[in-house]
Amino acid sequence: MTTTCEYKPGLDGITAAYSGISSVNGKEGLLEYRGIPIEELAEKSHFLETAYLLIWGYLPQADDLEAFEAEVREHRRIKYRIRDMMKCFPESGHPMDALQTSAAALGLFYSRRVLDDPSYIRAAVVRLLAKIPTMVAAFQLLRHGNDSIQPRDDLSYAANFLYMLTEKEPDELSARVFDVCLMLHAEHGMNASTFSARVTASTLTDPYAVIASAVGTLAGPLHGGANEEVLAMLERIGSVENVRPFVEECIAKKSKIMGFGHRVYKVKDPRAKILQKLAEQVFEKFGADRYYEIALEMEKVVAEKLGQKGIHPNVDFYSGLVYRKLGIPQDLFTPIFAIARTAGWLAHWREQLGENRIYRPTQIYVGKRNQPYLPLEERSL
Ligand code: SDX
Repeated sequence: MTTTCEYKPGLDGITAAYSGISSVNGKEGLLEYRGIPIEELAEKSHFLETAYLLIWGYLPQADDLEAFEAEVREHRRIKYRIRDMMKCFPESGHPMDALQTSAAALGLFYSRRVLDDPSYIRAAVVRLLAKIPTMVAAFQLLRHGNDSIQPRDDLSYAANFLYMLTEKEPDELSARVFDVCLMLHAEHGMNASTFSARVTASTLTDPYAVIASAVGTLAGPLHGGANEEVLAMLERIGSVENVRPFVEECIAKKSKIMGFGHRVYKVKDPRAKILQKLAEQVFEKFGADRYYEIALEMEKVVAEKLGQKGIHPNVDFYSGLVYRKLGIPQDLFTPIFAIARTAGWLAHWREQLGENRIYRPTQIYVGKRNQPYLPLEERSL
């Protein structure tokens, strides 16, 4: 065993794996999935094809893609006992908690675990990609006392999710915009939730536990949960005039401005650029959003005040504005991130299994030594 005496908070700059899944160039603001620029995928691909690329490592031939799509379609439904379990969830609970619980529960229903069997891996990949959106949509309806809606086999992955949320078939633009959002969120190297997924995977536990642990990690406001916080922040600011004092106050109090900053990107996140364009497309079709003006002013003021520190909009800054225009409730923004990122987590699960060694870093003990055991009556604070 080799140990290093150096500790880097947040493991900043520490390598945790070799990976061939995605590369992030933080200086130039470039992101590639399996070597393909994100801009090109956003323009030409669709979510299930991109998921295939990430998970299996190459762009599928037409018949492979068709078979994969058909398998996912076939597994979209969830067991009635999972729906019944979800009916018992408190309606005030956060949908990320509902998703984490439901994802973990899949492990109860599909408990066979044969990690060296390719057909088991394939079935788990298909099941998770297929069922996670259905579970997110089901919780949304069940918590409002409605029955969940069965998936529609004639709709694409993205369109079907929007349909299951609203019982209305989405228009073409909404379905395409949502599909691009899923692609943009599908993978991003060794981020916190992916690291979590890989640590869990390295114990050789089942894939449902891997995804459940990643969902729990994604939920926090410093990670995926920031997309929901951004809208709350824009609403709190309320007007373009209030932006500057808000940013100045955050800087003075050393509080974090949601949707800004990134461990890797020191320029504007390339996904934020695409999401901003998508936001403009939906505003053009469905009407302006006054919070967009506030967001633009925030970007300007933050660039002025914190740009020299490399703090710019990240993926979570504009996504909420897009989702809101598509009629999606605010607390579903992070579950939608999870739907998309399931593709990346599964790709890392496979990669981890391919060259597995259990993650077991070290620590530097800084606690007390040689302490006596005191009887209860002799203890004081
Ligand atoms: C995601 O890793 C990934 O790839 C994640 C992700 C993915 O696709 O998986 O891209 C998705 O999680 C996006 C990030 C969403 N989170 C937020 O928007 C929350 C706000 N942002 C931050 O809290 C922060 O920027 C992080 C969490 C994203 C990054 O944290 P780091 O790398 O640990 O940076 P830090 O907190 O140590 O900050 C470094 C400096 C500090 O200033 P100094 O003490 O050095 O003077 O930058 C400042 C910070 O105060 N800073 C900010 C800031 N982000 C960093 N100051 C104000 N507002 C911010 N948002």
